[in-house]
Amino acid sequence: LSQWLKDTPGAGLLLLRAFLGVTFTFAALQKLANPGFFQAGTPGSIQQQLLGADRTSPISGLVSVALHQPVLVGVLIAVCELLVGLATLAGLLARPAAALGALISLTFFLTVSFHTSPYYYGSDIVFLFAWTPFILVGAGALSLDERFARRRAAAVAAQGSGGGKQGSTRRPAVAPERSPEVERRTAVGVLAGTAVVLGGAAALIGRALSPKGASAGTSPTLPTGNGTGSTGSTTTTPGGTGSTTTTSTAASTGNTGSSGGGNPKGTLIGPAKDVPVGGAAGFTDPASGNPAYALQPTAGHFTAFSAVCTHAGCTVAFDKASFTFNCPCHGSRYDAANGSVLQGPAAAPLPAIPIAEGSNGQLYADG
Ligand code: FES
Repeated sequence: LSQWLKDTPGAGLLLLRAFLGVTFTFAALQKLANPGFFQAGTPGSIQQQLLGADRTSPISGLVSVALHQPVLVGVLIAVCELLVGLATLAGLLARPAAALGALISLTFFLTVSFHTSPYYYGSDIVFLFAWTPFILVGAGALSLDERFARRRAAAVAAQGSGGGKQGSTRRPAVAPERSPEVERRTAVGVLAGTAVVLGGAAALIGRALSPKGASAGTSPTLPTGNGTGSTGSTTTTPGGTGSTTTTSTAASTGNTGSSGGGNPKGTLIGPAKDVPVGGAAGFTDPASGNPAYALQPTAGHFTAFSAVCTHAGCTVAFDKASFTFNCPCHGSRYDAANGSVLQGPAAAPLPAIPIAEGSNGQLYADG
């Protein structure tokens, strides 16, 4: 084995190639099998991830363009990942597949993990460089590319030796020369067909198994609000950016609110009754225009937090069972009681948003 590893080009990269191929294939099938990935309102959807990237990415101009067709972009990413994964596993068109894989990794690095600190905590930059050996020298050992190259060389050699025997009629030298190319094209067709079948099967199975009412598990949104973004509105008690926000409600401070006297300062975001006790409702933070959550940990006691993950800007999802905010992008978890980080890579807590309930039963934020 050791001698084979030494003598065979690309043999030492087999494990890396297998890992990249399996990972890209799995990532693609996971996306295609998850209906929520393509549904705009779902926390981990492509649209939410693009919105997060739009806030923080150095290529936010391009992300804004992608936001016009988030579903198309999501499908395109998944299909490209699937083709790259399968081609890498088979070692077919390995160099262009690696180049596309590197481009996908670079895009993820610039949109999702660009602000990861230190930078080597982010996986996308590692994937980006892991593709480089295959871009430079191809797949090598145990690959279809290598097999077709060998057959092509053999065919050319056969043609050369056959060319010296002009009178020979036993075998046309042209046939073996063309055959490897025909085989290669057939293999490309089989790979594309496999991608269609695998991707289609994953999409069908994922939809068949996903619970009806796809938005199950998502939080309600406050119906009223300041009209800024797409997700309703919320409330929080006046509180700092620190860990524990909250304040109890009812007509606190001033009354500059938009409705009625005796109400708190700030912008009306929606009815307090729409925030379930022990749960949360989404709203758009009037001050920033970003998504946020209003919570009612105990009856009549309101808090609110930004829903923008402090790692790379994805929108976190509220999980009532664990009373946490979970980020769909890289798995950060926050304590919904105070916004503190329970699990990285995020390092900073979710900022609290001042919120209070007015005597009219409405919630006011940023007062
Ligand atoms: S954006 Fe990376 S964990 Fe949330």
